[in-house]
Amino acid sequence: MLPAADRLYQLALSIPAKLRLAAGFPYDGGSFRVPISMDDRKTDPTMTSSPADPARDLPAGAEIVRRPPLAGRSIVLVGMMGAGKSSIGRRLGQRLGLPFADSDSEIEKAAQLSVEDIFELYGEAHFRDGERRVIRRLLEGPPQVLATGGGAYMDPETRALVSDRGVSVWLDADLDLLHRRVSRRGNRPLLKTGEPRAVLERLLALRNPVYALADLHILSDHGPIETTVEEILSALSRWTGRAAGAEPSDC
Ligand code: S3P
Repeated sequence: MLPAADRLYQLALSIPAKLRLAAGFPYDGGSFRVPISMDDRKTDPTMTSSPADPARDLPAGAEIVRRPPLAGRSIVLVGMMGAGKSSIGRRLGQRLGLPFADSDSEIEKAAQLSVEDIFELYGEAHFRDGERRVIRRLLEGPPQVLATGGGAYMDPETRALVSDRGVSVWLDADLDLLHRRVSRRGNRPLLKTGEPRAVLERLLALRNPVYALADLHILSDHGPIETTVEEILSALSRWTGRAAGAEPSDC
């Protein structure tokens, strides 16, 4: 059961933004336009949505693994839309006993508008600005598993913060898989700027060299989510072993 504030937020998002704005409904883009609103969430408990309790959603039989020594770092999933960051991140959080957050959902909560509406009403630059600040707020909080929107890691400031506060994991999927996955839902504004497969191909060429700067590189393929999660857990163990200058250790 979602907390009351989240239910209200979901309800507000179900009303088209233009109608909300026309009716003078308080949940308009203004809260997103005023930069301070997202930072206020750090201090204003009524605006703060804490990431979900990982144990609450743990599937029957799934075990929380012994967490690799991450020294307070968050695990930050980066990669293209459709790479599986949210579904894999949620499961990874459950396995590690860490809360999970999704930057797009957090932006939507802060703005009280959907990502699509933010793009449509205020444009991409405005969305990127909010995205950067929301990710900063999340990474300045306690360790968590964070799924970032596909364009977030392209921002140099966000990359620097991720490298300071997190372990970055690039979920890398090929064009065919990405195209198949994103075609299931028509909610990605960038894919409306042209023929979706061609847009994806262009973004992949631009972004893959930057995603490659992430600490870990994991192929996200057609296999079960659990297999990818296992691969991330092993890679994290090796990474923490390397970071500590020790031999790789098991999780
Ligand atoms: C974007 C990816 C989306 C969302 C927005 C822009 C991108 O997130 O942030 O539509 O630039 O690739 P997902 O990667 O979660 O789909």
